Amino acid sequence: MTTASDTDFVVFDRVQKSYDGETLVVKDLNLGIGRGEFLTMLGPSGSGKTTCLMMLAGFETATHGDILLAGQPINNIPPHKRGIGMVFQNYALFPHMTVAENLAFPLEVRNIGKSDRDAKVQRALDMVQMGEFGGRRPAQLSGGQQQRIALARALVFEPELVLMDEPLGALDKQLREHMQFEITRLAHELGITTVYVTHDQTEALTMSDRVAVFDDGRIQQLAPPDELYEQPQNSFVAQFIGENNTLMGTVKEINDGVALVELDDGELIDAKPVNVSQPGERTLISIRPERVEINKDRLGENAHTIHAEVLEFIYMGDIYRTRLRVAGNDDFVIKTRNAPDQRRLQPGEKIEIGWQPEDCRALEA
Ligand SMILES: Nc1ncnc2c1ncn2[C@@H]1O[C@H](COP(=O)(O)OP(=O)(O)O)[C@@H](O)[C@H]1O
Ligand SMILES: [Mg+2]
Repeated sequence: MTTASDTDFVVFDRVQKSYDGETLVVKDLNLGIGRGEFLTMLGPSGSGKTTCLMMLAGFETATHGDILLAGQPINNIPPHKRGIGMVFQNYALFPHMTVAENLAFPLEVRNIGKSDRDAKVQRALDMVQMGEFGGRRPAQLSGGQQQRIALARALVFEPELVLMDEPLGALDKQLREHMQFEITRLAHELGITTVYVTHDQTEALTMSDRVAVFDDGRIQQLAPPDELYEQPQNSFVAQFIGENNTLMGTVKEINDGVALVELDDGELIDAKPVNVSQPGERTLISIRPERVEINKDRLGENAHTIHAEVLEFIYMGDIYRTRLRVAGNDDFVIKTRNAPDQRRLQPGEKIEIGWQPEDCRALEA
């Protein structure tokens, strides 16, 4: 599915992992990561993300398959020569050391001389806007500041590869968004290859060059954020990424790349066949809230529309969020922009909705 190329900096080649010798928590993982790429492993808890990171860092060994770093099997490279920086959720700073001593530690381990060390520590602190804090101890810093120091410590020895496992999970929303921006900026400026783990899809979409969506020890889809959001390849990805409406139906016909689907209440709609191919197949229809059209004039002449009843209207400032009953589904959500020509739908109203067939995906049921 995801083949690596010879030039990839990190390669997982048919990697499997079992902790107990029975169940595989990573199943046949094939993944290539380019030099300088920011790749995120996104998936629910228990899907195998941390295990993959630990194998790459060398703290766990693969049960089967190979992991290559710059073309070399990683087993042959001692951990301190792998040039890998790591950042975790729980900072893991040494509490008895000052900030500067924390940062100097990875340099000492690598036998870097004192004057060189001091310069690198100062530069790394400046990089995360913590230049004045070298003399403090971790306990004298806020959570956000500690996380910056952890980031600086991972970058101080100029690693080629940085691994981050849910590094922003403990921060509040505003700080988290700021750090998301800082981390991607630094990674790109320094040309570092980054493997980032999160279960937060917004974080994955906003930070990454590509996202690998994990479920049950497998990559379900590997794609840039826009492709992942707009062209999910299966029902898991469609439901895990972003908000998504689903309806059940049966394929009636497929013509010129458009599937005519009969919903379970008998109404007909148009969809793009993604992984259905035959009339008679059951299908899960997937459509994003912002792609549903309530104005018939904006749809094509022969577009199918279906009936909907307005259940709830929520004013959210920049957008209106309206919940509808559609084909027996009471949780069908649409989002419309708060624009001068936009009408506020009233609960109880009966309307017709439709969409461009390419915005509505017919997936395997
Ligand atoms: N050290 C371990 N020993 C045994 N089982 C483990 C260990 N670490 C993780 N697991 C199991 O492996 C599976 C994947 O876990 P993990 O890689 O931590 O997933 P994620 O990071 O996606 O939440 C889970 O079922 C978890 O319970
Ligand atoms: Mg984890």
